[in-house]
Amino acid sequence: MLGAGGPRWVYHRLMSNTLPDTFVWGAATSAFQVEGGRHQDGKGESIWDRFSDTGRMPDSGDITCDHFHRWREDVALMADLGINAYRFSTAWTRIIPNGLGDVNEAGLSFYSNLIDELIKNGITPWLTLYHWDLPQGLQDQGGWLNRDTIDAFVRYADVVSEAFGDRVKNWITQNEPWVAAHHGHAEGVFAPGIADFGSALVAGHNILVSHGRAVPVIRANSSSAQVGIALDCRPSHPASDEPGDVTAEQTYDGFRNRWFFDPVFGKGYPEDTVAVVHERGVFRGQGLPFVEPGDLDDIAVPIDFLGLNYYTSVEVSAADPEAAGVVLPEGPDQPADYTEMGWEITPMALTEYLLKLQEEYSPDSIVITENGVSYSDGPGEDGEVHDQRRIDYLDAHIRATAAARDRGAHVDGYFVWSLLDNLEWVAGYSQRFGLIWVDHATGQRIPKDSYYWYRGVIANGSSSPTPE
Ligand code: FCB
Repeated sequence: MLGAGGPRWVYHRLMSNTLPDTFVWGAATSAFQVEGGRHQDGKGESIWDRFSDTGRMPDSGDITCDHFHRWREDVALMADLGINAYRFSTAWTRIIPNGLGDVNEAGLSFYSNLIDELIKNGITPWLTLYHWDLPQGLQDQGGWLNRDTIDAFVRYADVVSEAFGDRVKNWITQNEPWVAAHHGHAEGVFAPGIADFGSALVAGHNILVSHGRAVPVIRANSSSAQVGIALDCRPSHPASDEPGDVTAEQTYDGFRNRWFFDPVFGKGYPEDTVAVVHERGVFRGQGLPFVEPGDLDDIAVPIDFLGLNYYTSVEVSAADPEAAGVVLPEGPDQPADYTEMGWEITPMALTEYLLKLQEEYSPDSIVITENGVSYSDGPGEDGEVHDQRRIDYLDAHIRATAAARDRGAHVDGYFVWSLLDNLEWVAGYSQRFGLIWVDHATGQRIPKDSYYWYRGVIANGSSSPTPE
């Protein structure tokens, strides 16, 4: 347990924490979670619109933060915050409404204006092409289970990079393929709501191939572009040295982490984990039938940076092979070591994992494309949001990042998830990750204490804006 007052936390406080002037300091959002504007300017239906319409979510994505109308105000808040980079995603359905067919110029204009406004304010746009909101038109033809979706994605990447490649130089192809594949196709808890393990493997593979094939297309349209992928991770450790726990952890790590990192870095799918697929009776005797000749080379295209999304790490045991962990009480009574998402606070594991990634895969550059925390702290009687717990979390993780950098990991940037309290997928508005509090009834924004704290961090290039 890494308690807020525990010894390992103290260790963090002693760590070197200064980052260079060139460091990328950002905040991140995604289209479906902040934009709203569902029916504006010819936008098409996405699988998340459908998921919400069919009662699979507590809140709808129709308005969310209304960023579609408030983007100028949001860029002004970013400028005031002092970030030098903003990570956002384009909604495929604004640009090519049904996934195929004509390009919607009005959709492109929305992002063009946003990009101009960012640049005018000295904020570098980091554009993610896919943050899970597949056009429903493509889902109707099988979505990520149909290889034609790979071609549709590459065309979409071509359209967007041709339109913005002169102004956008930092590109992320895919966000968190594990989540899209497994939550969306194995557990069925995320759109498109399919529950079939083999399908998750197929979807994950096609998403990775789409990444690999989009990279050269983006580079052709955007000279000197930096192109990467954002992989989520859940670093794990076995509960004990007992063989059952060790094997359970290896399997967990295989599916949750290595299955994606290994092929992106040219190592193919991990053999020990492929064996578990077959042991589970899936594709037995067939290898991985969805892998076609050339796919693994495509996936292994060299990238300019690895985007890493990090929130927590887990302990795995034979008794709990899915690392489901503790069930937290509802409301504000969660233990201090856990966030309101039920995720344990483990900054040390970030340092360790960054070092492990550097050793294992030798990336030229790693950028933390998401890190942040959900706490529901809202405005108090003074009208301000005193989210000290978020400050503590971010402080520890920025220190963990700096520590990994000091020890040889090529970490060049850090994005807080998220700029705004937004629609947290199937958790709806119940989870607030923002540096800026949003009243979802009125759209009102209130910068939290963590916003002002992060501003100091950026100004000082250090996670200690005030002397300790
Ligand atoms: C990540 C997602 C992001 C947000 C955070 C909390 O998995 O990429 O959209 O939901 O988790």
